[in-house]
Amino acid sequence: MEFQSGEKADNAKFLKAHNHVWNHILSVKKTLSLKCAVELGIPDAMHNYGKPMPLSQLIASLPIHPSKTSFIHRLMRILIHSGIFTTENVTNDNNEVESGYVLTDSSMFLLKNNPFSVTSLMLFSLSPVTIKPWHHLSDWFKNDDLTAFGTAHGMTFWEYTDSVPEYGQSFNDGMASDSRFVSSLLLDDKCKGVFEGLESLVDVGGGTGTVAKAIAESFPNLKCSVFDLPSVVAGLQGTDNLEYIAGDMFVDPIPPSHAILLKCILHDWSDEECVKILKKCKEAIMQKSRGKVIIIDMVVEDNDKKGYYDQSLETQLFFDMLMMMLVSGKERNKIEWSKLIVSAGFTDYKITPILGLRSIIEIYP
Ligand SMILES: C[S@@+](CC[C@H](N)C(=O)[O-])C[C@H]1O[C@@H](n2cnc3c(N)ncnc32)[C@H](O)[C@@H]1O
Repeated sequence: MEFQSGEKADNAKFLKAHNHVWNHILSVKKTLSLKCAVELGIPDAMHNYGKPMPLSQLIASLPIHPSKTSFIHRLMRILIHSGIFTTENVTNDNNEVESGYVLTDSSMFLLKNNPFSVTSLMLFSLSPVTIKPWHHLSDWFKNDDLTAFGTAHGMTFWEYTDSVPEYGQSFNDGMASDSRFVSSLLLDDKCKGVFEGLESLVDVGGGTGTVAKAIAESFPNLKCSVFDLPSVVAGLQGTDNLEYIAGDMFVDPIPPSHAILLKCILHDWSDEECVKILKKCKEAIMQKSRGKVIIIDMVVEDNDKKGYYDQSLETQLFFDMLMMMLVSGKERNKIEWSKLIVSAGFTDYKITPILGLRSIIEIYP
């Protein structure tokens, strides 16, 4: 066997390359095994058990057909291998040592009642509607549609979330769970300073208001507004210092404010659309003194600076593909952010990489 380069392969290199490509082909099984485990309620069953859970106990607690009981350990094995679950030895009532399944820090994020649960985002991302466009990605490369989502469904993602309420709801639920997670980091002592001294804040594209609610509670003197599409904010009730405003950020004026928050907004849009959004934000903050825009989004690490496998970078690149496929957006590196900020007429910015995969980017007129 020769590599395409004509180089004669030694067996080890040849087999490694073959394994690499097989692993790539099959790694979707890791994703779908996780989905299956969540749908069967495995993380919650383990959590409720409260100690290392033997296989027999796990099987007894699951809503599965008796003919399938012998398959559960195989589902668990792949998820243990990928670090989602682990095992520990326990002594049972007969004084025998047996192995039991245990949650890891990662699988704590799969529990239904964990406020930071990622399960709604997972179920949204892996729903047939969201998966279908991936099967059209190569068609999209050959046609002039804006997104593969459009190729698959004949309408934009935002038209779909608007016209199919259960899909819109699952997207909003997924975003709300992410927002609970980000809010908890954003409002701890390390980040809170971002909001100190502000009198008003508009969360543009703020969804159902999870982040704005948390900020409003932490800063009772800060007047907060959530500005989002009418279908998203219809019927939502504000509080003393939180209100909902229905509008389209490309069409309607953004209410004047000391600060504008854009969490997971700019990665949804092309550079041209982002410049339009940022210019409108600038108009809104220029009507107040010392205003700023607070962006929460990814700042992608440069590929070529890393000579090794980096899970955070890979996750950022997965998101970048998702944005391209769903909404014609993208995840940006530092240079791309800088160009965008300058093109929209802002003069200064500060990036604080303090939210894991995401950063806080404060930009000033
Ligand atoms: C990725 S979600 C982010 C939601 C929220 N900021 C969060 O992080 O949880 C994008 C939000 O932008 C809103 N959106 C999309 N197009 C919009 C428009 N033209 N005007 C206002 N909001 C819009 C969506 O309804 C959605 O709530």
